[in-house]
Amino acid sequence: MLFRDINPVLADPAAFRVLTDALASGVAPGTEVLVAVEARGFLLGAAMAYAMGLGLVCVRKPGKLPAVEHRVDYALEYGTATLELPATVVRAGQRVAIVDDVLATGGTVTATKQLVEHCGARVTGVHVVFEIAALAARDRLGVPVHALLTD
Ligand code: PRP
Repeated sequence: MLFRDINPVLADPAAFRVLTDALASGVAPGTEVLVAVEARGFLLGAAMAYAMGLGLVCVRKPGKLPAVEHRVDYALEYGTATLELPATVVRAGQRVAIVDDVLATGGTVTATKQLVEHCGARVTGVHVVFEIAALAARDRLGVPVHALLTD
């Protein structure tokens, strides 16, 4: 398995700032909240939210939230996974951008999009550092994908 590791960039303050600003620059005007995916999406989403003056919603793996708005099961290459949206933080009609470190099969982002749309909110875009283009997830998502790096 090949890992795309953002840790060296996070550890370098200048590089982390450049990364954060580059991700933030792709977010559509009018976006009201960022939704970040556990775990590495939290780091990027929190920095972006602070820089942009937006709120942050953290989509979590099962069993972590005190109150769950909605839950989605999705397929992995081997087995299944579940993501949960915290209660009362995404409102109908809100414009939401999704943040994660990597877009591979797109299963994680697709599940996150379903969680957001279950609330009646709309996804303005997906923002990642790395996209594995050969897996063609962006062709299936139906929303704009902003990736800083593709391979
Ligand atoms: C990785 C990555 C994305 C997801 C992308 O998370 O951080 O969230 O996989 O893959 P996909 O597009 O095929 O769904 P991982 O499941 O390793 O969880 P972690 O970030 O908590 O380590």
